[in-house]
Amino acid sequence: MKHWMTCENIDTQVVHRIFSKASEFKRLKGILSPAQKIFKRRIVALLFIEPSTRTRFSFEVAAARFGAKVLHLNLDTSSLMKGESLSDTVDNLHAIGCRYFIIRHPRSFAVEELAKSAKPGIRLINAGDGTNEHPTQAMLDAFTIIEKKGSLKGLKVAILGDILRSRVARSNMHLLTMLGAKVSVSGPKELLPPTTGIAGVTILASPDEAVRDADVVMALRIQRERGDVVFQFNDEEFLQKYGITEDRLKYASKDAVVMHPGPMQRGVEIDSDIADGPQSLILKQSENGVFVRMAILEYLSEGE
Ligand code: CP
Repeated sequence: MKHWMTCENIDTQVVHRIFSKASEFKRLKGILSPAQKIFKRRIVALLFIEPSTRTRFSFEVAAARFGAKVLHLNLDTSSLMKGESLSDTVDNLHAIGCRYFIIRHPRSFAVEELAKSAKPGIRLINAGDGTNEHPTQAMLDAFTIIEKKGSLKGLKVAILGDILRSRVARSNMHLLTMLGAKVSVSGPKELLPPTTGIAGVTILASPDEAVRDADVVMALRIQRERGDVVFQFNDEEFLQKYGITEDRLKYASKDAVVMHPGPMQRGVEIDSDIADGPQSLILKQSENGVFVRMAILEYLSEGE
């Protein structure tokens, strides 16, 4: 595999290899021996055409742990603003010496399209494309659940909120079901897809029903920037009707964990006390993101 694009039909053996490597990197606290710094002569370019905090910085830290030189594209000062295509940008950066490209783009499938015409030797990682997928986020989410619960087999995962426009939801639905979990999704009807087409995923109108007996309860941000879905709730109403509140969490299993990929809006998708409470794995997700992304970078470099 030359690129990391999607969680759909991902090879579970590869997933477990990545998780095993991520655990090893975590045991080492990310501190590698000189021989493990396999990116010492490599340049990694971060092309983020949309805002990001966690994904961008955790990839930067991951690449730096391997000794890579990391370059950031500043959208406002780049020649994309003068009409250059992203594909020409990638080719020119490749000519300059970049080999790895970590790309976030507002358009679904933009990274996949780049992959179709990518020059040999280029490695592309999808860091979130429109409403389509965010595959490295799902990898770190699954890793974090397995770290806490031992396995995803037989677990019940509830995902609440803006399912329709969430690339995190889509990648997680693919990956978590493939690893043996049952996933229930719920949110306002305006933010639910009519179907997911993914076996093992149930769409429920009632968030309480989605959360009932769940081992993992995940909230998602409302993606207001992605278009004109109109719903009638203010923030407090949204939290009470569809967010993670103390009352709603009582429906979950006693030892349920709470997750949010971030950025979270406290008091909208999740009660602030729960976000900071003992069941929350939210900061653990960010911590693990570095180790999982290290493992993905290492995996893509194999055979070079
Ligand atoms: N989860 C996530 O993608 O966060 P960022 O947008 O901050 O990268």
